[in-house]
Amino acid sequence: MIVLGIESSCDETACALVENGSKVLSSCISSQIARHQPFGGIVPEIASREHLTSISALATEALNLANLSWQSIDAIAVTQGPGLVGALLVGISFAKGLALSLDRPLIPVDHIHAHIAGAHLGMTQDPGEIYPAIALVVSGGHTNLYAMRHRLDFRLIGYSQDDACGECFDKVGKVLGFTYPGGPKIEQLAKGGSPTAHPMPRMMDAAENGYMFSYSGLKTHMVNLIRRQKAELSPSDLADVCASFQQAAFSQISRKISLAIQEFQPRSVIIAGGVSANQAFRERLAKEISLPVYCPELQYCGDNGAMIAAMGYQILLGKLSAANGTSATNDNEVATDSLAKFDWDAYPKYHFQI
Ligand code: KG4
Ligand code: ZN
Repeated sequence: MIVLGIESSCDETACALVENGSKVLSSCISSQIARHQPFGGIVPEIASREHLTSISALATEALNLANLSWQSIDAIAVTQGPGLVGALLVGISFAKGLALSLDRPLIPVDHIHAHIAGAHLGMTQDPGEIYPAIALVVSGGHTNLYAMRHRLDFRLIGYSQDDACGECFDKVGKVLGFTYPGGPKIEQLAKGGSPTAHPMPRMMDAAENGYMFSYSGLKTHMVNLIRRQKAELSPSDLADVCASFQQAAFSQISRKISLAIQEFQPRSVIIAGGVSANQAFRERLAKEISLPVYCPELQYCGDNGAMIAAMGYQILLGKLSAANGTSATNDNEVATDSLAKFDWDAYPKYHFQI
């Protein structure tokens, strides 16, 4: 089954064709970063207009790259949220028109859940080896922790009560004088610095705050630290500041994941979203966690259409299986006895984030 995935929630227009939820036939992304950079952040009206300008050509490009025609599309998956309302509207309207004209199913997809599906793209492992899993979506808009029994059965167990982790990287980057997004630049500079050069606040202790995250305290600490420097930071000072900040930002995540592993007893950990592209973060988790850690390929960490198509495929498969009265997941992703320790019903099944 070939699914066209359409993404337009923020500053990237993306269209991709994915076969059977995992084989990427083509993935086209048009980034608007340069258009927003002069304003120091995303301007929603500009974002909507840019999506409108590029979406049709991008879908055509995806088909051409995959050597396919419009008629070869079996279903259309589109980001329904969370995101900028005007930007989402462009992708949704385009997808609706296409679904109607081609007479194909339209599958609305949650952008954050799709980031997790992005980790499955090109994966050779059997889902039975992966689930139950703890999944973290760590991006510019969200820091969400999920307990997953399988790909379509999961609960949101923790999230940031203020800034997202990636947002904190971007804001610290801005104070240091970097253009958006600050994350990659901070990672690059941190490589030459000492992570213990500057003491950092330790926030959201697992014992008191469970799985909840907070990044605004770390952000304020960094803003004060940088502004206190009277002279301009030398290259080695800058490297130390970035390394110390990065270490603190990831420590909070490590602590929460360790707690979730203890309580949920998963088979693996999945990390996705823009920040999961950070190599220091990946290496740290691989060292600290004794379970397999799965991350998307670098090209599928940030926003893309392939992850939307992959999630759409899973949802469609679940619906078709339910209609046929077979397993909702159509694979062997089963819950295990270890889940008995975890209070699954303490977390709401449905949640809505904007
Ligand atoms: O998933 P994404 O492309 O868009 C959202 O859905 O938000 O994530 C973008 C975020 C930005 O905050 C960016 O600074 C961060 O991901 N990011 C990184 C790295 N690459 C991207 N943060 C830390 N280290 C990186 N290497
Ligand atoms: Zn995203």
